[in-house]
Amino acid sequence: MSNFWSAWIIILTVVTLLLNLWILLANRKSTNAGGTTGHIHDGIEEYDNPLPQWWLILFLGTMIFGAGYLVAFPGLGKFPGILNWTTVGSYETQIAKAEEQYAPLYAQYAATPVEQLYRIPEAMKMAQRIFGNNCAQCHGSDAGGAFGFPNLTDDDWLWGGDAHQIRTTISQGRTGVMTAWGGILNTEQVDGAIAYLQQISGQNHDQQLADLGEGVFSTYCMVCHGATGEGNILFGAPNLTDDIWLYGPDEVWIRQAVVVGRNNQMPAHNVLLSEDKIHLLTAYVYGLSRN
Ligand code: HEC
Ligand code: HEC
Repeated sequence: MSNFWSAWIIILTVVTLLLNLWILLANRKSTNAGGTTGHIHDGIEEYDNPLPQWWLILFLGTMIFGAGYLVAFPGLGKFPGILNWTTVGSYETQIAKAEEQYAPLYAQYAATPVEQLYRIPEAMKMAQRIFGNNCAQCHGSDAGGAFGFPNLTDDDWLWGGDAHQIRTTISQGRTGVMTAWGGILNTEQVDGAIAYLQQISGQNHDQQLADLGEGVFSTYCMVCHGATGEGNILFGAPNLTDDIWLYGPDEVWIRQAVVVGRNNQMPAHNVLLSEDKIHLLTAYVYGLSRN
């Protein structure tokens, strides 16, 4: 806030308060006790009675409270108030208090290996709340995933499902890149590759195309998806044989992945969450497909 606007607010506020006070004091006694003010409207006359004592005191009380508030808390332009209270400061105090309160618990959980931690219901209750605040918007509150966002409950992993791999995924993030093949393969090769994927995942398929696709697959796709299409966690390349799809089983989605490629990102959370929270989340995700 510039000095000008700060002064503007201070002057407006103080002048308004003083004006209010003046009106109040100027009207606290009647000038014509028992008579009327002379105002008549539709035959109704206005008596000139003094303000009721209780009302006057209440009003004065609120004004004193208001003035005191503006001295103590920020409200007058840039003046911070003598208590130096800020919303950010108050938030930080609350966070610090909560952290102090939960520190022993976090320390205890941090010392428990993931493979045991996921069986402790109190720890998982805490983890579920952290998941709800940080992960559910993409993976769903039940961690069941959505189009392009992996299901974390099915024990089918793009990047590996042991504790270390899950922790790395959450902490450092992952980027899954699938090349676009539209410009490299001709139409028949694309159709063949799709038919072959339908075959190895147990869907209905055109056998003749699939036979052609097998060759395409071993030339172009095997490097990442593995010799039999079982996937490769080094690249986050999905298993294409299990009929579990990141983007849906329909031909239209398989075709889209093959022709225009895919570029998908799990954001790194080490910049957002403490080590202890990531440890709890690792155990939570680890347990989702094991509990
Ligand atoms: C902005 C969306 C987004 C948020 C937020 C997010 N994720 Fe993800 N996550 C993804 C995407 C997208 C992928 C898939 C990456 C890929 O395709 O390689 C993924 C992948 C993963 C994987 C790997 C799954 C596998 O099969 O290997 C795990 C584990 C995971 N996320 C856990 C979490 C946890 C825990 C949180 C909360 C701290 C979280 N994610 C927050 C989008 C998100
Ligand atoms: C450079 C490595 C790489 C190569 C080569 C590659 N892929 Fe992929 N593919 C990936 C990755 C990584 C993903 C996951 C993308 C994501 O995380 O969204 C993927 C995803 C897919 C999907 C979507 C799977 C799903 O669950 O929805 C299909 C289908 C697919 N690839 C088919 C192919 C075919 C067919 C070829 C060969 C023509 C091929 N891929 C070659 C890395 C590769």
